[in-house]
Amino acid sequence: MRVLIFGATGMLGKALLRQWKDKGDEIIGLGSADADLRNPDQINKVVAASKPDWLVLAAAYTDVDGCEINPTLATSVNAYGAANVAQAAASNGSRLLFVSTDYVFDGTKGAPYEVSDERNPINAYGRSKSEAERKLAAISPECCIVRTSWLFGPGGKCFPDTILKLAETKPEIKVVNDQRGSPTYTLDLAAAIIKLVRAGARGIVHCTNGGECTWYEFACEIVRHAGLNSRIRPTTSTEFVRPAERPRYSVLSPSSLQAYAINIPDWQSALQAYLAEKQTFTS
Ligand SMILES: NC(=O)c1ccc[n+]([C@@H]2O[C@H](COP(=O)([O-])OP(=O)(O)OC[C@H]3O[C@@H](n4cnc5c(N)ncnc54)[C@H](OP(=O)(O)O)[C@@H]3O)[C@@H](O)[C@H]2O)c1
Repeated sequence: MRVLIFGATGMLGKALLRQWKDKGDEIIGLGSADADLRNPDQINKVVAASKPDWLVLAAAYTDVDGCEINPTLATSVNAYGAANVAQAAASNGSRLLFVSTDYVFDGTKGAPYEVSDERNPINAYGRSKSEAERKLAAISPECCIVRTSWLFGPGGKCFPDTILKLAETKPEIKVVNDQRGSPTYTLDLAAAIIKLVRAGARGIVHCTNGGECTWYEFACEIVRHAGLNSRIRPTTSTEFVRPAERPRYSVLSPSSLQAYAINIPDWQSALQAYLAEKQTFTS
């Protein structure tokens, strides 16, 4: 199988390249310097040149607060850019897997979101990804949309790294305790995406590590595992104001992933694996 990955220079893209290595497939990874999602001619050219069996679209403008400040950029990259990839997939006979987000939901459900639940994003990033999902379903009804959340892993800017860095110098760190979701390890997500591609998946699939927590609880676990002395203190979103509002509860139900018989570890085991891997790199 030949697979073309957009966003191969990003955190998830790097995990996809790593997990796909030695699996017998031909993998082509592209970053924004190779092809800009906003340029349909460039996108079509790179897809036509390799005519892949699958396109994996892991590229996006992912800075949630940046999207709020520049919603035009968010829409042009995340919504119109995704549509450009879907057009190229349709023109070249490639299947498409698109990586989306828990932020397409408003966070008011209070129970894990099912794939059948209605989108109702509350920030510009969520609106741009929601718009992408809508466009993709129209252009490429066979596409697979994988919604995930709270990514962490090597090769990117992620929450555990931020907390570990702060803990080096600060005796106390305040973290919001009123947003609940599921942290997800990019290597686990990448492994699941490969299985979904191999299974010829279509439609929406929710894919996160198991379990749920608040950012505060996540930070406590990071500091505990790392054996650090920093004290983590709970705070609220009203106290810690950011440009983009976040959903209060964005846990995604695992039932659509289980339908493909794909199992994924709980977030605590995933965090432990990530910290152990970091340790081997730094020691
Ligand atoms: N991070 C999270 O917590 C999270 C949560 C839920 C869903 N997701 C989704 O998961 C996917 C991967 O996220 P990530 O955190 O791995 O992303 P990331 O580390 O921010 O990487 C973004 C990738 O997109 C590429 N890109 C950005 N703008 C582009 C453009 N105009 N044209 C072409 N490529 C462009 C970047 O290329 P260059 O580096 O070469 O510029 C990079 O490879 C995204 O679809 C994101 O929406 C992420």
